[in-house]
Amino acid sequence: MLKLGFIRSSACRFSPSIVNLSPYPSFPPKQAISFAVRSQMGSFTTLSQSSSRLLFRQLFEKESSTYTYLLADSSHPDKPALLIDPVDRTVDRDLSLVRELGLKLIYAINTHVHADHITGTGLIKGKVPGLKSVISKASGSQADVFVEPGDKISFGDLFLEVRATPGHTVGCVTYVTGDGPDQPQPRMAFTGDTLLIRGCGRTDFQGGSSEQLYKSVHSQIFTLPKETLLYPAHDYKGFTVTTVGEEMVYNPRLTKDEDTFRSIMQNLNLPYPKMIDVAVPANLVCGLQDSKTN
Ligand SMILES: [Fe+2]
Repeated sequence: MLKLGFIRSSACRFSPSIVNLSPYPSFPPKQAISFAVRSQMGSFTTLSQSSSRLLFRQLFEKESSTYTYLLADSSHPDKPALLIDPVDRTVDRDLSLVRELGLKLIYAINTHVHADHITGTGLIKGKVPGLKSVISKASGSQADVFVEPGDKISFGDLFLEVRATPGHTVGCVTYVTGDGPDQPQPRMAFTGDTLLIRGCGRTDFQGGSSEQLYKSVHSQIFTLPKETLLYPAHDYKGFTVTTVGEEMVYNPRLTKDEDTFRSIMQNLNLPYPKMIDVAVPANLVCGLQDSKTN
């Protein structure tokens, strides 16, 4: 059983949540029953019998169709929490939810340097003293904490594992909930734009590579247990969650062989991303802006 949470930081000396101090016992493995509940706030929570210490909300930003995820260890006395892929336009909504739930927000994390919206990380840092921004070292972005493959981001007695999944951008990572009896079951993976529900992110900008994306998904995501819940950074059709097993059968791109996949990605004929020239420069200083960035 993992008792020490470790995060490597080459950007600062900050080494958060080093020791788990929860007085609460581990939860025995049980058959997980997950279901989604739409709350009055318009967010979603996934409940699981063996994941009852995880507080989880899926939040939506409608202009860029972006999902932001709120995770917290609700059994820890401090209720430490993190946000994955916050959007600047919905920071006030997200922070109000954090306040209402009595959480202590310690991290704002990005899966990659987004091209279609501006991260909320900078605004959140200005409103939550002590909060650290987190992004992969390979992203080339600025942040308080840089993560690398294999690092663990702890919040209370729960943690996320960092997996490198380049291809949509060179620095894309997938954050996966921990593997262990006291971690959420089934596991959950936050795939950013690497894997979307029945799709994947484009690979024609920001150091993208269809070969890399294909390898990333097959080596880092499709190797997770089939019941692993996959939460993407976007959805444009109203889907909220999928599983590894489902995408291995029904993803129309990633079920193909590599050559076919490459040909699909080279012939998408997508328009130039309309926010890219604004969003990427702003997001490259992820979390270090002093003021609103748009
Ligand atoms: Fe993206």
